[in-house]
Amino acid sequence: MEVTGEHIVEFEGVTKIYKSKASLFSRSSEEVVALRDLTLNIRKGEIFGLVGESGSGKTTAGRLLVKLEEPTEGVIKLDGTDITKLKGGRLKEFRRNVQMIFQDPYQSLNPQVSIFEAVCEPLVIHGIGNSGNRKEMVEEMLALVGLSPPEDFLARYPHQLSGGQRQRVAIARAMILKPTMVVADEPTSMLDASISAQIFNILLDMRERFQVSILFITHSLAAARYLCDRLGVIYKGSLMELGPSGVIIAEPRHPYTQALIDALPKFGQCGSVFHYGTLLAEERRGIEDGEGKGTKEFCPFFPRCRPARAEKCANAMPRLENLSPGHAIRCFFPARPSLQVETAGSSKCYYGI
Ligand SMILES: Nc1ncnc2c1ncn2[C@@H]1O[C@H](COP(=O)(O)OP(=O)(O)OP(=O)(O)O)[C@@H](O)[C@H]1O
Ligand code: SF4
Ligand SMILES: [Mg+2]
Repeated sequence: MEVTGEHIVEFEGVTKIYKSKASLFSRSSEEVVALRDLTLNIRKGEIFGLVGESGSGKTTAGRLLVKLEEPTEGVIKLDGTDITKLKGGRLKEFRRNVQMIFQDPYQSLNPQVSIFEAVCEPLVIHGIGNSGNRKEMVEEMLALVGLSPPEDFLARYPHQLSGGQRQRVAIARAMILKPTMVVADEPTSMLDASISAQIFNILLDMRERFQVSILFITHSLAAARYLCDRLGVIYKGSLMELGPSGVIIAEPRHPYTQALIDALPKFGQCGSVFHYGTLLAEERRGIEDGEGKGTKEFCPFFPRCRPARAEKCANAMPRLENLSPGHAIRCFFPARPSLQVETAGSSKCYYGI
């Protein structure tokens, strides 16, 4: 499918702060900045990957987009409309158009509800079809996600399926309304590699078939490379690098993205060296051990950043700036492209999914 230049989603300066309640161990409540000033857009028909390690704010961005949470600051638009202001019929229409696939299918599947009821329920809620044709619609969608023959699955319950089959049902439930936007939050992190690849292919097929745009959330750059047109790399709530996935993987310019890529398992021959496994710690670019504490503004990656220069990086927050059209990074000292010697997609060296 052709990705158009039109935007379906726009995040404009979105910040989300969670306030934790006082507990037995701590009387004061603490603030967690889960997302800081996020500005990015997703194009119509695009699969956009949001990548980062645990706690970086990926799920928060997804939950804000489907309106499971509200932003503390900033605006999120779907098709040009501010979603925070939706009410009544327009909110219902939004709920139909924007769906979420969770990491754990049990977050959308009730264990006491049959597969037929689970996939049919959104049709009933939104008044689509009738008792005569809904069974046919459900069967058709189950077949599209690879559950065949579909009639064998209708009366089963989630616990009677494998993990991969459960995730297929969750995709069918999300897709039966033919949404325009889907958030897929680590949909394969509980599955093994071969089943994950099948799920990725279902998502690619759904994009082709229904022209749906997808926000694909993952901690794996390799999975994102396989599936996504563009990537956003996020660290501690801040977007660090943004651009076409091929460019980001082949020529990462941010020290954090470089560190993520160096952590990928590799196999194949690069130059005269045969690789299998991950790089040694001293071979990895960009990353040190460290935790930063303090109140003043500084680059969030500074405490772990190998090429950091304290006089600048510890005293100001870099802005997200374009290096070339469509490729932006948040760093005072971008790596030079020539530093990259081993790239995914080259003929001899591969990163595993
Ligand atoms: N409801 C909440 N209340 C308080 N803090 C929260 C809440 N939800 C998320 N957080 C915090 O916000 C930050 C971002 O969390 P988020 O779940 O978005 O990260 P993530 O990138 O999806 O991580 P993971 O890869 O582990 O799923 C974390 O520090 C997390 O502890
Ligand atoms: S701004 Fe400085 S600390 Fe931050 S990523 Fe760039 S070099 Fe590292
Ligand atoms: Mg998450």
